[in-house]
Amino acid sequence: MGLIPQSFIDELLARANIVEVIGARVQLKKAGREYKACCPFHSEKTPSFWVSPEKQFYHCFGCGAHGTALGFLIEHDRLPFPEAVEELASSLGLEVPREAGAASPPRRQSESLYELMARVAQFYGEQLKRSERARQYLTQRGLTAETIERFGIGYAPNSWHEVLKRFGASDEARRALSETGLIIERDRASGREGERYYDRFRDRVMFPIRDARGRVIAFGGRVIDQGEPKYLNSPETSLFHKGRELYGMYEARQTRAALKQLLVVEGYMDVVRLHQSGVTYAVATLGTATTAEHLKRIFQLVGEVTFAFDGDRAGRAAAWRALENALPEAREGREIRFLFLPEGEDPDTLVAAEGREAFEQRLKNSALLLSEYLVRELGERITTRGADGRARVAEVARPLIERVPQGIYRRLLIERLAQAFGFQRTPEETAQLLGLSLAEGPAEGPRRALSAGRGSLVRQAVRLLINFPQLAARVPGSHDAALAASDEPGAALLATLLVELREQPAQSTAQVLERWRERPEGEHLARLASMEALVRDAAAAERELSEALGRMLAAAQRRQIDRLLEKDRAGGLDRQEKLELQRLTSELARSGSAGPPH
Ligand code: CTP
Ligand code: MN
Repeated sequence: MGLIPQSFIDELLARANIVEVIGARVQLKKAGREYKACCPFHSEKTPSFWVSPEKQFYHCFGCGAHGTALGFLIEHDRLPFPEAVEELASSLGLEVPREAGAASPPRRQSESLYELMARVAQFYGEQLKRSERARQYLTQRGLTAETIERFGIGYAPNSWHEVLKRFGASDEARRALSETGLIIERDRASGREGERYYDRFRDRVMFPIRDARGRVIAFGGRVIDQGEPKYLNSPETSLFHKGRELYGMYEARQTRAALKQLLVVEGYMDVVRLHQSGVTYAVATLGTATTAEHLKRIFQLVGEVTFAFDGDRAGRAAAWRALENALPEAREGREIRFLFLPEGEDPDTLVAAEGREAFEQRLKNSALLLSEYLVRELGERITTRGADGRARVAEVARPLIERVPQGIYRRLLIERLAQAFGFQRTPEETAQLLGLSLAEGPAEGPRRALSAGRGSLVRQAVRLLINFPQLAARVPGSHDAALAASDEPGAALLATLLVELREQPAQSTAQVLERWRERPEGEHLARLASMEALVRDAAAAERELSEALGRMLAAAQRRQIDRLLEKDRAGGLDRQEKLELQRLTSELARSGSAGPPH
């Protein structure tokens, strides 16, 4: 099976109703022509998440999340694109056609990989029941049967081919096992076919890693007691990207209480033990630094996050990296904190020793705000005294602050640094010293919609077209050449959009966006769609579009006239050019300087 034809995606979006798709997952309330809800991608108390049935598009004024019904399934249900298509299609009773002649079927294959992982996880679970030694180890680590059950913890038997034997009966089955990383291929040179592979996990306590929907996508295996390596993880596979996943996220979301904050720790045992103690908002990165993608995912769910690190050197290095990756996500209304644990302790030992209340007290009292942590680190890294010191602080701080988006938070951070290091000037002067701009914007939230200026004429026209794609049919084709030839930024995009929409009309914004999903300008278009259109009704939109296009064309004509006149002065025009000059001048005169195109 091959690619999903674009025509099918078009049809799918024509039939689907985004209100139903989102409404099945989020409680929507009708508000005029639209629907609103508390945003499922960030935590909030008053609704700023809007769904437009006309545009078949959703948009959150709070966090900026936006997209189509398909986009929602991708972001919310965490589905890869082809699966989101499958999901939407099957909810409408449609079969997804495939273009002939391409590679293997992505859906059926990954579905069976998920199934395989589930079966192997179950097998490990059964093996744990049989292994006195493994069970004893977990008991000695303080885990209850209920916790073992909740996290699906198991045991991989001490064998080179138990999984291989049970789950790898055919070539195809072995290929699947190998794709999930459960078995490893030996060097080509060695041995007979039956010995080509061996089990990756042997004699280890197994922690299944689940995705947001609870499907097992990888494993972490710990040696019992001593041994190297202490932890062995599944490799990166088509199911598992460790820079994206957080261990315990599924379990954290399963708990009844609304998730308001997350605590990011380093280890499997930390998460499991914290949950068991009642700190059910703990998650762990999987043997990697906290990535920007982790941060994005976290802030889609909550507004508060604390990173816990060992107090040792490695812990502090990891914290610094987390800080660097957190800066682009820092803004008003989000809280990012850093907790350093006493030497020799990790969250597992600490919560076991002092219990939930004391641990949460520690979180509350000892975790440093990002700004405080930054001030402390800078103070320790650099000699900050005197004018030289201030210059050095500025030098080190500048690239860090540059990562923080423009806005209130950036301003506060700069002020805090100024205060801590005695810059003692106004924020503007401090910013200047840091070589940074304090300009406000891109503003967040509803202000963005209100303050969204019309931008250039091209931008205005594109925005109108994306919000009212039916208008394309009413723009005369005589404009296309002039637009395509224009060197204004975005004119080529506008021309393409017009031509394509005239050839293949679209009923909704969503349809257009899905046609552009794979193209570089796709996200730009989606952002334009998510800016509330300044004009709400189609008639007014048509007037505005026509005026914008008219002005663009007049400007283009004037530029062309100038070019021709210039050439005339320099050396003269040929017959063709003279005719064109005549035509342009009379057209421009007829239309007035900013008249409508038709
Ligand atoms: N880790 C890893 N590979 C290793 C060691 C560690 O992937 N060889 C990852 C694991 O995700 C582990 C985390 O780093 O959970 C933290 O490692 P460490 O602090 O050494 O282990 P603990 O989580 O404290 O495990 P335990 O309490 O079982 O010793
Ligand atoms: Mn530990």
